[in-house]
Amino acid sequence: MIKRCADLLRVVNVRTIPHYLVYDSSCSHSTCSSTVVKENEVSASSRKRIPDDGLTLQHFIKKSERRPRQKNVIPTPEESDDYLDPEDLKGNGRTVNYVTYGCQMNVNDMEIVRSIMTSYGFNETDNRKTADVVLLMTCSIREGAEQKVWAELKRLKKTSARRSQVVGVLGCMAERVRHDLLSNRNLVNVVAGPDSYRDLPRLLAVARAGSDAINVQLSYDETYADVSPVRVDLDSRTAFVSIMRGCDNMCTYCVVPYTRGRERSRPLESIVDEVSRLRDEGVRQITLLGQNVNSYRDTSIQTVENLPSTASDSPFKTVYKPKIGGRRFETLLDKVSEVAPEVRFRFTSPHPKDFPLELIELIKERKNLCKQLHMPAQSGDDETLDRMGRGYTRDTYLRLVDDIRNILPEVSLTSDFIAGFCGETEEAHQRTVDLIHDVKYSFCYVFPYSMRGKTKAHHRFEDDVPQQVKDRRHLELMNAFRSEADKINRNLIGSEQVVLVEGVSKRSEHELKGRVDGGTITIFPNTGGFQPGDYVLTKIVGGNSQTLRAVPMQKTLLS
Ligand code: 5AD
Ligand code: SF4
Repeated sequence: MIKRCADLLRVVNVRTIPHYLVYDSSCSHSTCSSTVVKENEVSASSRKRIPDDGLTLQHFIKKSERRPRQKNVIPTPEESDDYLDPEDLKGNGRTVNYVTYGCQMNVNDMEIVRSIMTSYGFNETDNRKTADVVLLMTCSIREGAEQKVWAELKRLKKTSARRSQVVGVLGCMAERVRHDLLSNRNLVNVVAGPDSYRDLPRLLAVARAGSDAINVQLSYDETYADVSPVRVDLDSRTAFVSIMRGCDNMCTYCVVPYTRGRERSRPLESIVDEVSRLRDEGVRQITLLGQNVNSYRDTSIQTVENLPSTASDSPFKTVYKPKIGGRRFETLLDKVSEVAPEVRFRFTSPHPKDFPLELIELIKERKNLCKQLHMPAQSGDDETLDRMGRGYTRDTYLRLVDDIRNILPEVSLTSDFIAGFCGETEEAHQRTVDLIHDVKYSFCYVFPYSMRGKTKAHHRFEDDVPQQVKDRRHLELMNAFRSEADKINRNLIGSEQVVLVEGVSKRSEHELKGRVDGGTITIFPNTGGFQPGDYVLTKIVGGNSQTLRAVPMQKTLLS
């Protein structure tokens, strides 16, 4: 039971704040605007009266009233809050429906949330209408992504069979929209930013007591390294492992640094342990994840790898000073590929500035490091790149592509592009189309530019490319990459490729789907009783811009 005091329900979200949380002091939500909480402020019930003879120095010296929170440990119910009974934090079989929007990082974050919720005794359900709790993992990168979430929140309000259903918005949109999610239309009860998932049981308990609850505090060190994600896709024998969080690059169009916070990396050993566990469970493909995956730098122990993250003479520039020390991405790739030689490794999403040639040499040397590199260019025009704050020119980028192809001639390159960024002229757009034809990517993600609040572009530039022009440029970039991908895939006809089987093809139960080393989806008839997780040597017999067709030859091994 929650212990109630006179005005608990009115300000419960303030009263139940543990001291280690810092709440947004610019809060405008109706239930807490009068009681804005700042770091370590004590709750109203424990606030002391000013003595009649005034304050002394002693009143300004903060006494430690609670045990300090241990870093990276899920607080036990006993540790979690003074105002909640430990029983209140327990799920006691309450049902939760999980809804995930956005990128693979979000899928992986939801696996972490599942793990935390399960450890507190909540049970997963597929039935969204009757669930006690619905948790939505959200994305903010473009306006459209947030609109989808608002639409689902309204649908939930209409369709929920339970008036007491608690709805929680988690992740990037929670961090960006914050209190407005609670004050708007009474659709949401709980808001938890990307670094607050450990606090969910407490936030849910507050919501059950009838009040809204929010924690959008970002952290410098939260990596959830000790939380074992609860994976749902066990059939495909593929898994995602998050290795770092946040981004320090501050590209001018991007909201991620504001929603996900500063860059921080998981200790290397915890990643190697998770990879070893997945290997033992039979996983055959692991994608290492991070907003800036190749900026990985484990500073949890002192190391001799004192090379700066980006050398000062590098043609790639950063808004931050070179970071010194820490175990870098190459070291991690070296370790994980060694510990799991029968597992294929991919990684996403990297930044072009962090591709030292030693990393490319390592990828060449190891059979299980896929020869597929995602190299988000965003634009092929120098002025646009400069306004985007990407830290490189077209020429710098193309020279890196050449260096990589010299070492790995068979590499398959993929990229992200934005169509219609602020100030992008027709000529600038054409230079991006040309870059796509020059580099010849096997796949590109293309996005029409969507201005986001808080970003530098929002403060400095005008969103001056009309929507129809953005849409047309978007289509032209897509057509450019498709025509090149079509040629690349047709050139593979006749070659032998090892395909890792992921499952049955959608079109026919007699066909399997999997991926070649370069990452392209490949379909072939299951004439050999092959299973997900098998490596099959195939001969490519057909291809278009998106898929390859093959005939199987024999089961094989990677190493
Ligand atoms: N508008 C459109 N696309 C964006 N991206 C990031 N921010 C925006 C935005 N405001 C794209 C970039 C990035 C990918 C994950 O999303 O291409 O690489
Ligand atoms: Fe956003 Fe740039 Fe960071 Fe990628 S590197 S998450 S585009 S700020």
